[in-house]
Amino acid sequence: MSRSAHPAGPRHADVYPEGHYTAPATDLNELDAKVWSRTVTRDEDGALTVGGMEVARLAEEFGTPAYFLDESDFRARCRAWADAFGAEADVFYAGKAFLSRAVVRWLQEEGLNLDVCSGGELATALDAGMPAERIAFHGNNKTVAEIERAVEAGVGRIVLDSFQEIARVAHIAQRAGTRQRVQIRVTVGVEAHTHEFIATAHEDQKFGIALADGQAAEAVRRALTLDGLELIGIHSHIGSQIFDMAGFEVSARRVVQLLAEIRDEHGVELPEIDLGGGLGIAYTSEDDPREPHEIAKALSDIVTRECESAGLRTPRISVEPGRAIVGPTAFTLYEVGTIKPLEGLRTYVSVDGGMSDNIRTALYDAEYSVALVSRSSEAEPMLVRVVGKHCESGDIVVKDAFLPADLAPGDLIAVPATGAYCRSMASNYNHALRPPVVAVRDGQARVIVRRETEEDLLRLDVG
Ligand code: LLP
Repeated sequence: MSRSAHPAGPRHADVYPEGHYTAPATDLNELDAKVWSRTVTRDEDGALTVGGMEVARLAEEFGTPAYFLDESDFRARCRAWADAFGAEADVFYAGKAFLSRAVVRWLQEEGLNLDVCSGGELATALDAGMPAERIAFHGNNKTVAEIERAVEAGVGRIVLDSFQEIARVAHIAQRAGTRQRVQIRVTVGVEAHTHEFIATAHEDQKFGIALADGQAAEAVRRALTLDGLELIGIHSHIGSQIFDMAGFEVSARRVVQLLAEIRDEHGVELPEIDLGGGLGIAYTSEDDPREPHEIAKALSDIVTRECESAGLRTPRISVEPGRAIVGPTAFTLYEVGTIKPLEGLRTYVSVDGGMSDNIRTALYDAEYSVALVSRSSEAEPMLVRVVGKHCESGDIVVKDAFLPADLAPGDLIAVPATGAYCRSMASNYNHALRPPVVAVRDGQARVIVRRETEEDLLRLDVG
């Protein structure tokens, strides 16, 4: 799903006749800044440091596997998004990528809003003090209890995803004696160039209400007549890990067309549009993500142009990046356990985590990079597959990569760009204990989500 090609070159070329899997031209000790968080570097002994702290020390203190999150990078990315969109737009961080109370506080301090998509995420946001009006509540099947909680808390917007939900939210808000601010999520019919499971704007899927067959216009009609709802805008999210801005442009154009139709039919100009998240990040050196200011300019230019030609006032734009903010800010640190060379094929390197801390490779065929980080090495590159410790052959963390041939049990290796959708999608498969998230900043490290323990597992098992 990332666009990365396989590494290419001569080693193992006989078993891979297409010429794939050739040793990389670059020195394996070199770190590609694109895939590592900003404060990551190697010290003079070749050991990786993040936030000024050396990984061996971090491993000793916090154990492995563990996610290390570069707090200053996270904050810098928040600011870059907020600055790029400016005062005329709103940035909602998508909490599904990774959410914790510390993250909620950082978002507040850096001036971002928050998109939540479940009662659990809402509870985390409220508990950490995010003002409710800065929260957007998403989901294709919010429960009545979740809607009641969101309305009661006074969330800034609920994004409506179906006709039943329009009626449900209206009823709950009216019963609570309030008018809930809402947006309607539409599917604009764009085929996003990403993995099928994370593309969301084509019509044949569960999210949103289709523009093409007039359903979205009907949803707007209903929402405008219900006393419990204040319709503030239209929402579109086309998918995830997308590099090409063309899909966003089509989406923006179609949403603005709908605004014009609403103005013509109802005499109302809705004040906001939300263009969702989905901007891609670099998982490997082959990926070339856009900078927030380029994205902001592309989106605001298209919305302004389309509004001008439709004679509409330009609405306030909002966006919901999750991965683009947190994804690049963390890496997962593993200890190498066993090493199994398979003659003529590749070497299997088993680590102390796996699909329970990173399901993305198994689920989306995602590509990742990996590096030996406890030391440097001058050894030849060897083709490896980094696998986990789970009872499943699909338990792959990094499908194809090169590590130095002198790799040994006890070495530490790190997989960069695991800040998004790794801890948040982690599981207890095989009763694995989910790893901690440790925030590192200016020579200090602190646990923000602690490691699970066997007691945690047994506490849920009530016999
Ligand atoms: N807004 C809405 C309405 C969404 O559904 C999502 C992601 C986002 C924003 C944030 O998208 P982002 O900027 O993080 O791409 N588990 C998959 C990704 C699923 C995304 C679901 N919705 C993965 O690991 O790639």
